Amino acid sequence: MNTIIEKIKDVKDAYAILDEAGDILKAGGLVAFPTETVYGLGGDALNSQASGKIYSAKGRPSDNPLIVHIAKKSSVYELVKEVDDKALMLMEAFWPGPLTLVFKKKDIVPYSTTGGLDTVAIRMPSHPVAMELIARSGVYIAAPSANTSGRPSPTVAQHVIEDMNGRIDMIIDGGAVGIGIESTIVDLTGDTPTILRPGYITKTMLEDIVGKVDIDPAIEHVDPSLKPKAPGMKYTHYAPKGELSIVEGPRDEVITGINKLVKNRRNEGFKVGVIATDETKCRYEADYVLSAGTRDDDLTVAAALYKVLREFDELGCQYIYSESFSEGHLGYAIMNRLLRAAGHRVINIKEEDI
Ligand code: TXA
Ligand code: MG
Repeated sequence: MNTIIEKIKDVKDAYAILDEAGDILKAGGLVAFPTETVYGLGGDALNSQASGKIYSAKGRPSDNPLIVHIAKKSSVYELVKEVDDKALMLMEAFWPGPLTLVFKKKDIVPYSTTGGLDTVAIRMPSHPVAMELIARSGVYIAAPSANTSGRPSPTVAQHVIEDMNGRIDMIIDGGAVGIGIESTIVDLTGDTPTILRPGYITKTMLEDIVGKVDIDPAIEHVDPSLKPKAPGMKYTHYAPKGELSIVEGPRDEVITGINKLVKNRRNEGFKVGVIATDETKCRYEADYVLSAGTRDDDLTVAAALYKVLREFDELGCQYIYSESFSEGHLGYAIMNRLLRAAGHRVINIKEEDI
């Protein structure tokens, strides 16, 4: 398949491209597009064949449901059985934006889109290209992240091209995304709203609007008997090809500790990488040292994390050691992704270990 690749700088100058993309979606084809979180791989959410194509383009297990993207809040009433007060308050506070809400679905939403579930995840993205594409196409867009299953989500069009060129009809290049990690998912089908996947919209931000919010225990613990409510969270996503470990402890000890670990692995003949920050980058001695951003602004870390993980795949490092990034607004979401990429391998360094 020949994939059309189009650049959009300003939505106002790109209506012809967006209409072409809309025609592809209406005809059951697939279009990758930027959102404020990560790039999405879109198809008509109400067309089972289109969702089938999404699963095969990604190589994704078909029990892993897709998020349905809408361009106006009122669309939710066409797709779900009940919108209660808490849902309305959250939609009012955070839509358009990086929050996905899970509702009980109406029959119009095919099981192929929801991975066989009676619930549907819905999000109204704030990225101008995404909004305009949904509105002009006239379809609701089912869109998982536009990566091959198991790879880090794409944060620039080049990542989508690497994974999807030749497999889908069109890729819209809208430049680098803003946030860099996927939306917060909140399940509204139980008594208490429950976070199924952490993201930019934090527990505190949600609780300020609706009161008590729970976190799905399966995303907090490494207990294999707990089954995550968001099926996608059970897969070892984002895992780089090399073995990634997170090193925790006081900053200077972490640097000394990582340098020691790197030295040992290099003595064994391995190629070794380090995920550092702008502040610490020059203090490591490894084959490759990549900065994930600055500690002064955790948004920079979220924005760079997936790019750095992809770069390590290309560099062919067999071992990667990463600093820990648990502080700041996005710390919880960043560590959720990093821990999964590391298969929960954490090395805790104390002064006496050095
Ligand atoms: O930021 C985002 O959410 C991006 C952009 C493109 O919008 N999309 C995204 O989609 O991350 P995806 O497919 O990579 O991740 C969707 C997650 C999966 O973990 C899936 O299991 C969960 O949402 N999910 C979807 N529908 C669900 C449902 N009905 N109940 C529980 N979890 C659901
Ligand atoms: Mg994904």
